[in-house]
Amino acid sequence: MPCKPIIILALESSCDETAAAVVIDGKICLANVVASQIPIQQRYGGVVPEVAARAHIEQILPVVEKALTKAFGTGDPHDHLKNKIDAIAVTAGPGLIGSLLIAVTTARGLALSFKKPLIPVNHIMGHVYSNFLEYGTSDTECRMSNVECRNSLSESPLPHSTFPIQHSSLYPFPFLTLVASGGHTDLILSRSHTDHQLISQTRDDAAGEAFDKAAALLGLPYPGGPSISKAAESGDPGAFSLPRGMQKNESLDFSFSGLKTALKQLVDQMKSDGQDIEKLTPNLAASFQQSVVDSLVNKTISASQKFHVEQINLAGGVAANKLLRATLKDAAKLTGIAFHVPDFEYCTDNAAMIGAAAYPALLENIQFPWYSVNVERQPKLSLILN
Ligand code: KG4
Ligand code: ZN
Repeated sequence: MPCKPIIILALESSCDETAAAVVIDGKICLANVVASQIPIQQRYGGVVPEVAARAHIEQILPVVEKALTKAFGTGDPHDHLKNKIDAIAVTAGPGLIGSLLIAVTTARGLALSFKKPLIPVNHIMGHVYSNFLEYGTSDTECRMSNVECRNSLSESPLPHSTFPIQHSSLYPFPFLTLVASGGHTDLILSRSHTDHQLISQTRDDAAGEAFDKAAALLGLPYPGGPSISKAAESGDPGAFSLPRGMQKNESLDFSFSGLKTALKQLVDQMKSDGQDIEKLTPNLAASFQQSVVDSLVNKTISASQKFHVEQINLAGGVAANKLLRATLKDAAKLTGIAFHVPDFEYCTDNAAMIGAAAYPALLENIQFPWYSVNVERQPKLSLILN
């Protein structure tokens, strides 16, 4: 079968990372550039939407240029866009409206100027498909060295039939993904590229949000996930008994607000007893982290058994947590279910995952002209938004 890799330029600006990536065949990442706003947002202890949107405006074009240069070498980025890129993918929602608009309007402009098809991707599905970046690449014929051997989608789309023949086996349907990020804690059952079902979600705070709030309570910097896990390295996870939300409940939903309140009450009590909170922070962080991880792992394993999936995937910013990665991996192994988690760089928000999610749609010839793509702040759970 002739090698016809498809090269996607993907853009992402749904929250506080401005990102661009160049991805071949939804798997091989030639460039993954992320301009993080963490140093800016740290001053406010969280993401301020107006500040985020302004930073995206400054960053989006340099980030796109950097991604093209990284992927194809020095030379005119315009030529790279014109000659090497087959399609443009962009996060169209969910997210902060002002932030989303920056990548979407940029992508529309590029699609119009360079006559490329545009694919509006659901950010959450981007996290789901981040699991297929670099996935099975060792058995893939189309590698980086073949980037010149490509198919021009805008002129001659791949026939519909190439999709099931070449690629369905690379996606282990039905699979379950735990997407745990700053805004979401979702269990998603994927039966096919067009059938993604939300099995359960958090009833209150998202797991990442819980980490961020707990860090603020302990005086640790934003974002809270990395701060808590660093502090927890020298702590004892069994030092304090903190609740595991929804564990006595049959529901597969998550809850983290009770845990947050319990931690606050504990810290308040310690302060009023005159205890040194700073000294106790590693134990508090380790106990908190263990509780979040136990809740996430227990519900994910229960859901995987209920829906008889063959594989569990982990995604989202919280998937960067080493304890969660190791605990879910062990639990899946004990249950006899395959487990996959992306490399760290594809867990927190990035554009490579948007390119990975756009690829199956392109193979099905799902693509749009620049003028029909818009922002959707709270979209339905489908891969492509339009
Ligand atoms: O997916 P993401 O980059 O952005 C959203 O779509 O929300 O996730 C950001 C969240 C933040 O709440 C951050 O604290 C959390 O991911 N996070 C972590 C870790 N790294 C980032 N949580 C736990 N452990 C980590 N190592
Ligand atoms: Zn995200």
